[in-house]
Amino acid sequence: MRAAVMRANNAPLGLEEVVIDDPGLREVLVKTAASGICHSDLTVIEGGLPVPPPCILGHEPAGIVEAVGEGVTDFAPGDHVIGCVTAWCGVCKFCTSGRPYLCLTQYAGRAAGAKPPLTAADGTPIGQFANLSSFAEKMLCPERSLVKIRDDMPLDRACLIGCGVTTGLGAALNTVHIPAGASVVIVGCGGVGLAALQGARIVGAGKIVAVDAQPWKFELARRLGATDCVDATQGDPVAAVHRVTSGGADFVFECIGLVRTVEQAIAMTGRGGTTVLVGVVPITEKVAISAADVTLQEKKITGSYMGSNRFRFDMPKYIDFYLDGRLHLDEMISSRIGLDEVNGAFDRMRKGEVARQVIVFV
Ligand SMILES: NC(=O)c1ccc[n+]([C@@H]2O[C@H](COP(=O)([O-])OP(=O)(O)OC[C@H]3O[C@@H](n4cnc5c(N)ncnc54)[C@H](O)[C@@H]3O)[C@@H](O)[C@H]2O)c1
Ligand SMILES: [Zn+2]
Ligand SMILES: [Zn+2]
Repeated sequence: MRAAVMRANNAPLGLEEVVIDDPGLREVLVKTAASGICHSDLTVIEGGLPVPPPCILGHEPAGIVEAVGEGVTDFAPGDHVIGCVTAWCGVCKFCTSGRPYLCLTQYAGRAAGAKPPLTAADGTPIGQFANLSSFAEKMLCPERSLVKIRDDMPLDRACLIGCGVTTGLGAALNTVHIPAGASVVIVGCGGVGLAALQGARIVGAGKIVAVDAQPWKFELARRLGATDCVDATQGDPVAAVHRVTSGGADFVFECIGLVRTVEQAIAMTGRGGTTVLVGVVPITEKVAISAADVTLQEKKITGSYMGSNRFRFDMPKYIDFYLDGRLHLDEMISSRIGLDEVNGAFDRMRKGEVARQVIVFV
């Protein structure tokens, strides 16, 4: 099969013929229909998340089951599925206490010494990213990385739910509880931020302020529910948010992953408010916060990983939201491209020219 392989950091992905193994115990072979491109893929390419090359990236897929391995009970050939990064074991303390997205086995892959799922034409192993590797015509996934979805859901939109939508929407719906009428700020209107913004709208937030450095995003943000917009390149965005929210917001979602914007997000949070860190700051960097500010104003800071998802429960619900008109996905897709255009897509993402780009396989 054809796949886009990361052979080195900070270099273009190369299109290669890759060999994918047959499904083994509790594994499912999926024909990839579509894969969104998430900023976390770019963070890996740029070395901000430790994933060694060679590796096939891509972790926002939807597809159709082609074959199932021994012991698979939840899927059959022909099923439409979404793949998710947060595979779960079902028995650890995180899984059994209702937070399967924190399960420590989620990146375990095949047992040590087993045949690798992906190999180059010369037989050398190629790493699989998050049990998915969706920049490829097929994926070999543990069944607990997948959820079956309705057949009437278009797969080129379903894929967005695999990472960005679940991450942003779930940050607003699962990680925190936003009371109706509360003020919400979204810092960064990419795929993740626009999904958090829609979550705020769905739960009935009051003011919803979109902050971005690309003013063209504001028309889109308003269509998806923003009441106010702040151009981060014009003056001080923290002061602008304080003006619009009368002294700081009840909830601020940082959806970029830069030290500077995390600091701004905490400063945009009002007394008693909550900062939700959704963007992934490169692991080599540290953020300075005023502890006194957090204590004396009783601010809360929380991380939000993959929308605090229980994805077999959440994703079919998000699809219902789309099909009943509450969740807007069509507007979030800036372009549909072929796998051979993936490097250009990362260039456009670096420049902030897009909301979400989707690779469509034929
Ligand atoms: N927490 C999680 O589980 C999780 C899951 C997926 C992605 N992420 C992370 O979420 C973040 C966003 O991902 P995405 O795919 O939406 O990214 P994206 O590149 O599509 O969007 C980023 C947005 O931030 C804007 N921006 C950049 N610099 C800015 C600045 N200084 N001020 C204001 N706006 C600025 C860009 O214009 C763009 O609209 C990334 O850090 C990604 O790694 C986290
Ligand atoms: Zn992602
Ligand atoms: Zn577990």
